[in-house]
Amino acid sequence: MHILITGVKGQMGSRLAAALSPEHAVTGIDLPELDLSEPSAADRLAALRPELVIHCAAWTDVDGCARDPDRALRANAYGTRHVALACRRVGAPLLALSTNEVFDGRQARPYLEYDPPNPINPYGYSKWVGEQIVRELLPEHYLVRISWLIARGGSNFIHRILARAREGAPLRVVTNEIACPTYAEDLVPALIRLALTGHYGTYHLTNAGSVSRWGLARFALDAAGHADVPVEPITLAQYPRPSTVPERAVLANHAAAHLGIVLRPWQDAVRAFLAEEGLLA
Ligand SMILES: NC(=O)c1ccc[n+]([C@@H]2O[C@H](COP(=O)([O-])OP(=O)(O)OC[C@H]3O[C@@H](n4cnc5c(N)ncnc54)[C@H](OP(=O)(O)O)[C@@H]3O)[C@@H](O)[C@H]2O)c1
Repeated sequence: MHILITGVKGQMGSRLAAALSPEHAVTGIDLPELDLSEPSAADRLAALRPELVIHCAAWTDVDGCARDPDRALRANAYGTRHVALACRRVGAPLLALSTNEVFDGRQARPYLEYDPPNPINPYGYSKWVGEQIVRELLPEHYLVRISWLIARGGSNFIHRILARAREGAPLRVVTNEIACPTYAEDLVPALIRLALTGHYGTYHLTNAGSVSRWGLARFALDAAGHADVPVEPITLAQYPRPSTVPERAVLANHAAAHLGIVLRPWQDAVRAFLAEEGLLA
């Protein structure tokens, strides 16, 4: 199958391309060669005649989106429109990644796939508009919301916490931002499985369970042999950011679980991540 992956240089795109390329013909696109926010992107993507598109490209800088909401909409909403239009033109299904930040985080229970979104920051709003455009234009879609991606290499939340511990820098982490970590190595096979089911719709795929930022930092430090390093618990109010953070945007995997697609508990995934990075104590 000819699979087109957008955002192929990013955390998810690069891993999906590596996992799919032995078996499939994979074409990857990214900035600066192709800017999805340009209207001409739809024609350029359609000309590649993919049979399946996995859309990982996005402007993921949440605080950047808060400073420049117009750019966020162009990249994340209209960029997604151009991808969906190309899919429609060539008859290819689309798997597009979205975020827990489409929800306001004020609900006590975890969010189910069809709970009403109510984004409270420009990143979440731009992703939610992207979702709506996909639903308007293309029935053959999988919209997959994820949260707190943990990918090997690069610099994610756990890498940054452990680096500060090694430097002896003070650690202050928020207790009232709660969500679900998603380990990229677990997500990749789940996405590939889902994309081949033909069961189009909206999905939540994260590791099972939820945790606060503080709890995740504490867990990673303990598992990496830094149990002696203190982490000061603070609240979001003590950590001002340009973007408003949804406090409890916990995703429940109901729809994919019905297809037998479930990711292991986040604690097992974080331990596996640390082991694979050579960081487990
Ligand atoms: N990372 C998370 O914790 C997280 C959480 C929830 C949902 N998600 C969603 O999951 C998906 C993948 O995230 P990720 O962490 O793999 O993202 P990532 O590492 O930031 O990669 C995204 C890629 O898309 C590219 N891109 C940005 N704007 C573009 C444009 N206008 N045209 C073409 N390419 C563009 C980026 O290029 P530049 O680097 O040059 O900007 C980057 O290579 C995204 O849809 C994101 O919203 C991520």
